[in-house]
Amino acid sequence: MNQPVLAANAECPLCGGSGWKSGPAAAGKSKAVVRCDCRLGNWSERLLKTARIPARYEHCTLSDFESDFPGANRSLASALFQANRFVEEYPVETTGLMLLGPIGVGKTHLAVGILRELVTQKGANCLFYDYRELLKAIQNSYNSTVQATELEILQPVFETEVLVLDELGAVKPTEWVWDTVSHILNTRYNDKRTTIITSNFDDLPPSSRLAGDEAMAASRRIAARAARDETLGDRIGERMRSRLHEMCRKIEMEGGDFRQSIRQAH
Ligand SMILES: Nc1ncnc2c1ncn2[C@@H]1O[C@H](COP(=O)(O)OP(=O)(O)O)[C@@H](O)[C@H]1O
Ligand SMILES: [Mg+2]
Ligand SMILES: [Zn+2]
Repeated sequence: MNQPVLAANAECPLCGGSGWKSGPAAAGKSKAVVRCDCRLGNWSERLLKTARIPARYEHCTLSDFESDFPGANRSLASALFQANRFVEEYPVETTGLMLLGPIGVGKTHLAVGILRELVTQKGANCLFYDYRELLKAIQNSYNSTVQATELEILQPVFETEVLVLDELGAVKPTEWVWDTVSHILNTRYNDKRTTIITSNFDDLPPSSRLAGDEAMAASRRIAARAARDETLGDRIGERMRSRLHEMCRKIEMEGGDFRQSIRQAH
């Protein structure tokens, strides 16, 4: 579905349509940039709708992210702290985040919580996309019976101030997948836009690089696939993995599936 990017109010006398104005200086800081009044209020509600948070994650907020339940891994408290700091510092600091860790550890919850705060506190234009669904939507656009063109799908992905790309690497890699993910990440990198990704894959180079020679590499690759321990490098290519490091700060989350930890605790 086409995702319109909200147009700024060009008539606004306070900001002239940029959506930003200078605000009171915070203690110890020379200048603060805050959202203009024309972007607050109803604007947040509109932004939340255009952010396309899936219904199953609508409940996720930073304030209900638990990090001190019995058996909680210490990395969760650190991840939550960094998520809150990220919101606080945006948009002065625009480096994105990579939330990495096993299934059920709370990566998507944290990413959605951040997005929600950016919308409500900062009036930022945000967009959530599941990586698999985004690639599927682009692929569908090649079918002439489908209305949306590839550019209509990609434009908001390129232009949104903050993009959450959930489950990066979850699509079986092909040359087309690599080209598409490169196109998206490189465009956002060149335009200095903020990208938050989540991934279940380990932040390591392609498995072939980890082995000494080609024969070792091939056998390791087969073993890796069998063991489902492909790396992020395997899934999106080494170039894009290293690009992500330029775009994002890494947050590693460890621990079991939250839903199971809670069940065991009761
Ligand atoms: N630390 C947490 N506090 C509260 N809810 C959590 C926490 N971690 C996970 N959850 C909940 O558990 C479910 C799975 O979390 P999710 O964010 O989808 O995990 P992941 O994206 O890492 O696979 C979601 O419903 C989420 O809201
Ligand atoms: Mg997830
Ligand atoms: Zn304004």
